[in-house]
Formats: sequence, structure tokens, C-alpha cells
Amino acid sequence: MTVLITGGAGYIGSHCCVAFQQAGYDIVVLDNLSNASSASLERIAAITGQKIAHEIADIRDQARLEQILRDYNCTAVVHFAGLKAVGESTKLPLVYYENNVVGTHRLLSAMANCGVRQMIFSSSATVYGEPQFLPLTEDHPTSAVNPYGRTKLVIEDMLRDVAASDPAWRFGILRYFNPVGAHHSGQIGENPLGIPNNLMPFITQVADGRREKLSVFGNDYDTRDGTGVRDYIHVTDLVEGHLRAHEVLASGSAPSNCFAVNLGTGNGYSVLEMVKAFERASNKEIRFSFAPRRDGDVAECYANTDQAEKLLDWKAEHDLDAMCRDTWNWVCKNPRGYETTAS
Ligand code: NAD
Ligand code: WQD
Repeated sequence: MTVLITGGAGYIGSHCCVAFQQAGYDIVVLDNLSNASSASLERIAAITGQKIAHEIADIRDQARLEQILRDYNCTAVVHFAGLKAVGESTKLPLVYYENNVVGTHRLLSAMANCGVRQMIFSSSATVYGEPQFLPLTEDHPTSAVNPYGRTKLVIEDMLRDVAASDPAWRFGILRYFNPVGAHHSGQIGENPLGIPNNLMPFITQVADGRREKLSVFGNDYDTRDGTGVRDYIHVTDLVEGHLRAHEVLASGSAPSNCFAVNLGTGNGYSVLEMVKAFERASNKEIRFSFAPRRDGDVAECYANTDQAEKLLDWKAEHDLDAMCRDTWNWVCKNPRGYETTAS
């Protein structure tokens, strides 16, 4: 009775490993380390005090997947593995389709051959495209504005088709809003390689002096202060949502064998509010200047969380100050990510 966690060495996956181990599950991590360090696996073990079974492998390698599913007697999969950089996906669409779509197809095929029929899938609020109304409910129309988002939509459709083909399958599609924060121990966190694309890692690198200032993309949106509004969610809350989804799927209590649920807080914060919150948490000035809007950005995006509360009996608990405090704690303890740890 083991849960396979693909992408378990990555940012969200590593936090999920901690949550599942601490909840008493046996887990095995599968990761090709294309965007992660094996040091995260050692840190997970340090937090939980348990050994962590792991396989350096690729989700596109179906034969290896089948061997792992059988060797560990897996009964369910939590599927994080994938590429996630929106800008890169517009330059390398085929790489994204192969890694994300073909990879998930091979994973599902391996599961089918091994009789493993339960999966939680990391989807994204990006599948809602330009919001037609807010807050976003799960029945909001979906559309993709970039290849990354399209891979998530294709995978969601693939899961719905597979679920419809055989009621034995059980899928939980979790649509994340903007995950931020880190484990409160400061042992694991987000470790972006190169120049960060996302707001929170960029702010942290301004705070610790690695970058001179933040470019705020657009100050003429129709929002409280003109800057973009997003639903930031603490990664610890996010992975608790996975634990609940796993329990609901395993108990067979879900209303259908394939459900999609938003994981957000329901609160939207602007870029400037994020800057202020991070200044409070870090006691550092975050220098910024306004820059043109970024292509493909929407003004506002935040979740309706009713479905998550109803179906999963789950609600995010950490506020914005906790998200910033835990991010800063992680950065201070690991000034260069997993490569260096502050003494
Ligand atoms: P991450 O890059 O830190 O983690 C992904 C992990 O998957 C990495 O450890 C990487 O090495 C591994 N991986 C990639 N391709 C692989 C392959 N072919 N075989 C095996 N391992 C592979 O990213 P994350 O932020 O932890 O995101 C996890 C999932 O959540 C992704 O599917 C992402 O699209 C989704 N998601 C993330 C966000 C976000 O803002 N972080 C938002 C919505 C959805
Ligand atoms: C947040 C806000 C920016 C950087 C992305 C993906 C999405 C999902 C989560 C995976 C926006 C502004 C940002 C900067 C800024 N990922 N910003 N200066 O765009 O909501 O979502 O990550 O599924 O698919 O698109 O998150 O953190 O990039 O931006 O002003 O240097 O911060 O314009 O308003 P986004 P983000």
C-alpha cells in the first residue's frame, strides 16, 4: 500500500512527501531531477525522521514505471512531475507536450497495466484562461493561452476520458492557484534555477540582495492599486488538500470518479500588497519600478473555494504574513537554495 509521488523532489512534491509520510503513508518518489536537487529528499527524511524511498527515473519510461509500481506495490499516484515555465513553453512547445502530455499518457498506461487506478493530478488555475467572472468556480469555461496551459487542459481531458471508460478509475484534478511559502522548518522550499519567472521568488531575491529591484508588470489594471491580483496559497495548505483528496478518492466517497477542485484561499492580493507583506516579514526594503504589462497576464485571478470545502472538507489556514515569513525563513537558512545552507 504505497503512494507513488512523481516529481516528489520538486517544490510542491517535496512538501507533499512530508505531509503523506507524517500522515502515516508509505511513499516512493519518482523524479528525473530535471528541476530538482536530490538534497530535497535528504531534507524530507530529516523533517519526518523516516527513510524516503526514491527512484531517479522519468515518467516517459513506461517499462521503468511499471517495474516501480510493481516493486513497491503501489496503490495510488500523486502526479506532480512536469515542466511548468510558461515562457519556456512558448519557445519549446514540443518539449512541453512530450514531457507533460506524453509523460502522463505513459504513466496512465503503466498504471493500467499494473492495476493501479487512482491518481491525483497537479492542474492549474491557468486552465480558466481570461476570467469571465470572479471568483473562479470549477465550472468556469476553460481555455489555454499558452502551450503550458494547453498541456494541463489536454491532460485533464485525457483523465476525464479514461475515467469515463471504466468506473474503476479514480481521479482528483487539483487546480492550484499561486503556491508560495515553504515548510515552517526552513528545510525545504522553492529553489528556482536562473532568473525567477514568478513573483514570490523574485521578491525574495530582491530582499536578499541578489537582484536590484522588482519590475512590477503593469500598474494600469482595473484593480485596487492598478497591479495584478492573485490568490496566493501556502504550499503547506496546498499539500494538505492533496492528503484530503487522496482520502476522499481512497474511501470511494467522491460524487464521481473524476472531480476537479480549486486549491486557493479565495483571497486576492495585488503585487504591491505582496511587496508590502514581504517587507513586513523580512524587514527589508523591496525596491521596485513599474514596467509594461507582461504578455498573457490577466488583471485578477482568485478562487471560489466552496467545492474544496464541500468535497474535501478542506480550507487553507495560513495567511499572507505566514506565507511571507516561511518563505523568508527558508531563504535565510538556504541562501542559495539546496546548494548552501547558512551556518
Ligand atoms: P517543480 O519543477 O519544482 O517540480 C516538478 C518536478 O518534476 C521536478 O522535481 C522535476 O525534476 C520533475 N520532473 C519534471 N519532468 C519529469 C519527468 N519527465 N520525469 C520525472 N520527473 C520529472 O514544480 P512545482 O512547482 O513543484 O510543480 C509541481 C506540479 O504542479 C507541476 O506539474 C506544475 O505544473 C504544477 N503547478 C505548479 C504551480 C506553481 O506555481 N508552482 C501552479 C500550478 C500547477
Ligand atoms: C503573479 C503576479 C505578475 C513577476 C504563473 C503561471 C501559472 C501558475 C502560477 C503553474 C502577476 C506579477 C510577476 C515579476 C510582477 N503556474 N509579477 N513581476 O502569472 O499568476 O501564474 O504561476 O501552473 O500557470 O502563469 O504568477 O508569480 O508569475 O505572477 O509584477 O517579476 O505578479 O504580472 O500579476 P501567475 P506569477
